[in-house]
Formats: sequence, C-alpha cells, structure tokens
Amino acid sequence: MAEKRAQFGTRLGVIAATVGSAVGLGNIWRFPYECGTGGGGAFLAVYILFVFLIGVPCICAEFSLGRSSRRGMPGAFRISGARKQWGFLGYAAILAAFMILAFYAVVAGWTLEYIIDSATGLFRDTPNSDRHAQFTGFISGWKAVLWTIVFLVINGLVMIGGVEKGIERVSNILMPILFLILIVFCINSLTMEGASEGLYFLFHPDISKLTPDVVLGALGQAFFSLSLGMGCLVTYSSYFADDTPLIKTSMQIAALDTLVAVLAGVIIFPAVFSFGMTPDQGPTLVFEVLPNIFHSMPGGSFWSFLFFLLLALASLTSIISVSEIIVAFLVDEFRMGRLKATMIITCISLVTGTLCSLSFGPLKSLNLFNIFDFTSSNILMPLGGLGVCAFVGWQMRRSDFTAQMKMNSKVPAFIFDYISIGIKYVAPAAILIIFIAGLF
Ligand code: TRP
Repeated sequence: MAEKRAQFGTRLGVIAATVGSAVGLGNIWRFPYECGTGGGGAFLAVYILFVFLIGVPCICAEFSLGRSSRRGMPGAFRISGARKQWGFLGYAAILAAFMILAFYAVVAGWTLEYIIDSATGLFRDTPNSDRHAQFTGFISGWKAVLWTIVFLVINGLVMIGGVEKGIERVSNILMPILFLILIVFCINSLTMEGASEGLYFLFHPDISKLTPDVVLGALGQAFFSLSLGMGCLVTYSSYFADDTPLIKTSMQIAALDTLVAVLAGVIIFPAVFSFGMTPDQGPTLVFEVLPNIFHSMPGGSFWSFLFFLLLALASLTSIISVSEIIVAFLVDEFRMGRLKATMIITCISLVTGTLCSLSFGPLKSLNLFNIFDFTSSNILMPLGGLGVCAFVGWQMRRSDFTAQMKMNSKVPAFIFDYISIGIKYVAPAAILIIFIAGLF
C-alpha cells in the first residue's frame, strides 16, 4: 500500500507556510531596491497591478496542478495526463530550485553576520565612510562562506522534520514574530522626522518614471516574490487538504505578500529620506545604506539587530520552500526517505552555495552567483510559469480544473472567469514578454 501523503495540519498552517514561502528576501531586500531604482510609486502601482492580474491566476494554476495530482514536480504533469514532452518543464523546475537554493543561501547567510555585528556593536563602531569597504570585504571572504553553510544546515534541520512537524511548525512560529517585528518597525519609521517625504516617494505614482525596464522589473519581481514559476506552489498545494479553498487562499497570499513588501517600503524609505540619502542605490540598499542610517539613529544597534533578524527569519521560511521542491521530487520519484533526500540536497547545496559565495571573492571570474541568479530568474522561472499556465489552461481536463477551483467554496462567476482568462491568455502573454525581454 502506498504511504499516506503528508499534509498540512490546519488552515492557518497552510497560510503560514505558503506566506512564509512568498515573504522573503524578495520582499524586504529586493523589493525596496527595485522600487527605489524604479521611481517609487510608479513601480509600486505597476507591481500591484501585476500581482493581481497575473500573479493570482498563476498561483491558482500551480495550486490546481498540485492538489489534483498530489505530486510535486515533475510528477504533477504526468499524473494530470500530460504527454512526455511536458516533463522537461518539471526537470527545469528542479534545476532552478537547486540554483535558487545556492544563491539565496548566500544572501541569507549575510543577514546572520549582520545580526551578530549589530549585537556585538561592530556596526556602531564602524564609521559610515568605511561601510562599503566593510561590506565588500566581508562578502568576498571565507566568513561569508561559513554563514552560507550555517544557513543551509539550519534549513536541513527544519526539512528533516517533515511537512507538518518541520515546515508547518516553524512557519507557525516565525510568521507571527515576523509580522510583529514589521509593525514595531513601521511605528518607529513613521515617527521619524521627514517620514512624509519617504511616504510620498513610495505612494505617489509619477507616470513619467515608467520605462519598459521598470515595467519588466515589476513583473519579474512579482514572480519572484510570489514564489512562482518553479513548482514551489505546486509542491506545497500537493499537501493541502481538500477543504482548502484555492482561490481564496491565492488571494490571501498575494495580499499578505504585497502588504509585507509595502511595509518594507514604509520602513525603509522614510528612514532613507530623513537621513538625507537617496533611494536608488540598488542591491546594496539594505546592506550598506540601512546600516549607515542605523548608525546615526538613537538605539541603532537594537534596530539593526531587529531588522536583520527579520530578514533572516523571512529567508528561512522561503528557503525551506525551495528545498521542498527537490525533497518532494526525490521522495515521489525515487521513493527515497525524507532524511536521505534532505541529506543529499544539503550536501549538494553546501558545494554550490560555497561556490556562489566565493563568486564575490576568489571565484570572481566564474561568478556562479550571477549565472545562477540570471538563469533561474530570467530563463527557468518564466519558462516554468508559462509552462504551468499553458498546461493548466489548455491541456488539463477542464472538469479537473473547475473542480479544484470550486471545491468547498462558493466562487462568483466573474472571479472564476478572471482566474481562467488570466491563466489562458493574460499570464502567458505577459510572461512571454518578460522572457524575451529578459534574454536581451
Ligand atoms: N518568494 C521568495 C522571496 O520573496 C523566494 C522564493 C521562495 C522563491 N520560493 C521560491 C522564488 C520559488 C521563486 C520560486 O524571497
């Protein structure tokens, strides 16, 4: 007899785990710098539009594929009646998961160093003029490799616990803490002198800032932030109970994920403006600009400790969802035990993660970090998203799809139409555009 498939225990656990996957470095590190370089409010407006127009239908597509087949990638395609040709999309997802795991662990590792540096007062004792040298010195050395390893080992320990006792339990604990920290930060940020300038930047859409690059950036950001295009949500939804309402859940996840990104903006931009800095610094915004601000703030060490703790916790619940794609693959396709699967993944990612970390130092010429980031975000993720939408929209049995969407929930006809038109036409067209533009 086949072993019973793991399942999330409670409805709240489903939300905590799935929002935990969505909320991560993408919201707190990537969104603020993308928004900052993309002109603030204009970027935010387009981003929100994409999340609901394209993101929500894509989430529903992944959910219906996962829950109807009760498999991760690539088995979900096979069980749902896909011909062999579709299988390669599933393998592309596994490959992408390995790549994201490696470079995500590197940046997540940096947050651990920053937590320690805040606690020990190293940040406070470093003058702002040395900040850049401190950051680049740190990421190019072996200490960064060590933190990458630590993060991957913590990830492995959670994964061994399993779906309900590992992923769900950790998410149930960490997500409330994360929201609490966010709220404390927002209050602090809103009471800063000059906060209004930052809020104006974030919420006032200046249409003249909308270039094709900004629009494409917003679409890519929506995909990354919602954990789309790699079968992550296919895998998670294969553990959903039958009474989990899929459309409602997809909207809750999209709303909460967007809320966290907006709150990260509300935390960062007022601080940036009130300390006379500019928001368009790019990827170093959180690792260089923010420490400079904390440095000049009363109680700065405490705030920076809390901020990087927030970032680390958010990263952990995301990276476990990336690893689960591969664990589910090994367990489903090779009938491997969870412990063995986790060990294999951890060993491989210790090697690839180390190589990615060294991309900022001795292995600069290879720069695996950028290769993995580019290949997964600009090629494999859009391809995967397109594949899932095309399959669910055009190939999967219509009755299976409808049954999944409507199971145990009343769905108004216009909502159902918005989701299915999104899956069939809007999302594939939009993804094709990012894909082609991303390549050039
Ligand atoms: N969404 C996460 C973030 O915002 C990253 C992430 C987790 C992800 N799982 C994923 C991205 C699967 C793409 C695919 O940080």
